[in-house]
Amino acid sequence: MKRMRLDRLLSNSGIGSRKEVKILIKRGEVQVNGTTIKKFNYPVSPSSDIVEVRGQRIDYKEFYYIMLNKPAGVITSTHDRFHKTVMDILDDNFKALDLFPVGRLDKDTEGLLILTNDGNLTHKLLSPKKFVSKKYFAIIDGSVTKDDVELFKKGVPLSEDFTTLPAQLDIVKPNEVYITIYEGKFHQIKRMFEYINKQVLYLKRVQMGNLKLDDDLSPGDARELTQYEIELLRSSIQ
Ligand code: URA
Repeated sequence: MKRMRLDRLLSNSGIGSRKEVKILIKRGEVQVNGTTIKKFNYPVSPSSDIVEVRGQRIDYKEFYYIMLNKPAGVITSTHDRFHKTVMDILDDNFKALDLFPVGRLDKDTEGLLILTNDGNLTHKLLSPKKFVSKKYFAIIDGSVTKDDVELFKKGVPLSEDFTTLPAQLDIVKPNEVYITIYEGKFHQIKRMFEYINKQVLYLKRVQMGNLKLDDDLSPGDARELTQYEIELLRSSIQ
């Protein structure tokens, strides 16, 4: 692993913002290989140097992968002057990382949202060429029929020049379904149901590729993915 600035390593490890970690360094609270370092740009090797803050060893990771059960009422954005964002509701230790959301969920949509600083994986997961599936649970105003299942299987025309890829509808109850899509167009699921004159009353993403939302995460809760879950995400890319 390449050398990096001490302040960057600390902020990337979730210790605090760049400004906060500079204060720690200035106060003499940071040691590298047992020596107190007061230079912000002191070069450190994340793989071989031992970095400590007040005697506590920093476990540096280049990439972080967070699973958030997004609640309704927050927008999928990193900053917004007027609305609460998914970043605002994260714990402070996650906030300090340079994370961004993998794709978007509408303000009123709940469920699985991945946040990461791994731009390469994000790019692949969102690429229309990779056909990563997205599975949602939806409550519909009206009954979903077998004809709807057949229509969705063929693809739904959302505009004159765009028809969705085939989507899978699984009826749980007449007005409750699971729907799996392979793109991420703006309001896609709501617009697919609008096409059959039905309205989506509730929408929750339950799976992205091979990765399922952890049922134990309450809306608003977030945790790091396990190594196994990161592999599940990676294996979703075709
Ligand atoms: N489709 C929608 O209509 N909204 C979402 O949030 C996600 C998919």
